[in-house]
Amino acid sequence: MSFEDNLQAGSLTIVGTGIQLVGHLTLGAQAHIVQADKLLFAVADPLTAKWLRSLNATAEAIPYNTDRTRRKETYREMVERILTEVRQGLNVCAVFYGHPGVFADPAHGALKQARREGFKAQMLPGISAEDCLFADVGLDPGVNGCQSFEATDFLIRRRKFDPTCALILWQIAMIGNLGFYKEGSHLHGLTVLAEVLQEYYSFDHEVIVYEAAVYYPVCEPVIKRIPLSKLPEANVTPVSTLYVPPLGPAPLDREMMARLGMENRG
Ligand SMILES: C[S@@+](CC[C@H](N)C(=O)[O-])C[C@H]1O[C@@H](n2cnc3c(N)ncnc32)[C@H](O)[C@@H]1O
Repeated sequence: MSFEDNLQAGSLTIVGTGIQLVGHLTLGAQAHIVQADKLLFAVADPLTAKWLRSLNATAEAIPYNTDRTRRKETYREMVERILTEVRQGLNVCAVFYGHPGVFADPAHGALKQARREGFKAQMLPGISAEDCLFADVGLDPGVNGCQSFEATDFLIRRRKFDPTCALILWQIAMIGNLGFYKEGSHLHGLTVLAEVLQEYYSFDHEVIVYEAAVYYPVCEPVIKRIPLSKLPEANVTPVSTLYVPPLGPAPLDREMMARLGMENRG
């Protein structure tokens, strides 16, 4: 008997739409969206929702309750909603925006729960906001390296990082916020973030508040270059990501180079 024979009827495939409307969807993700017995989605814009409905008549938005004081509770409800369909023996496709495994608790939660209950479950990769940032800002993580943190996590765990390496901070509008975004609620967190970053970078170090274009080519990406000291006043939205460019190349370790036989190669 193979492993597959032990699986329950019903399966879960989690896919991402990418960030840009239609243009970022992989062929693999599209095939799962079209063929699913039940399509559930949690996407950020109404046009993508409409388009998903045109691809699969069973498409339904996963309820997303923003009245809760803890996002985690809403995420638990989303996992349950997805699993309810899988438990009925359906081949379910759940769609999230961007890469479905990047900053997407309910996607990982549903995947784990489905496997725990004996269902076949997989996640397909998608294009994340960070992938768009690499392309739009011209950042190659291979040059100085790249560190990526959730902004609140970065602050409350005092993450050790290297300022000579690129730094990407996600969810800068949600610093210290365990619930959902409210207009203006980001100001205090952003002020604290700017203060902490100034322990490592000068106040005039250029940082970029970035928003990838969702409706490209109708809209361009937002790339706001500002001195670090102006970060608290920046026009930030729930989809803003902060890019802090590196201070410069890290010094070379000559001993290590010699050990690797690199010293005499110019
Ligand atoms: C819950 S996460 C979702 C990330 C998404 N799964 C992905 O793959 O990019 C939300 C955060 O992603 C980033 N983000 C989402 N959309 C973005 C966009 N259009 N441009 C830049 N960053 C974005 C922001 O940091 C935002 O706070």
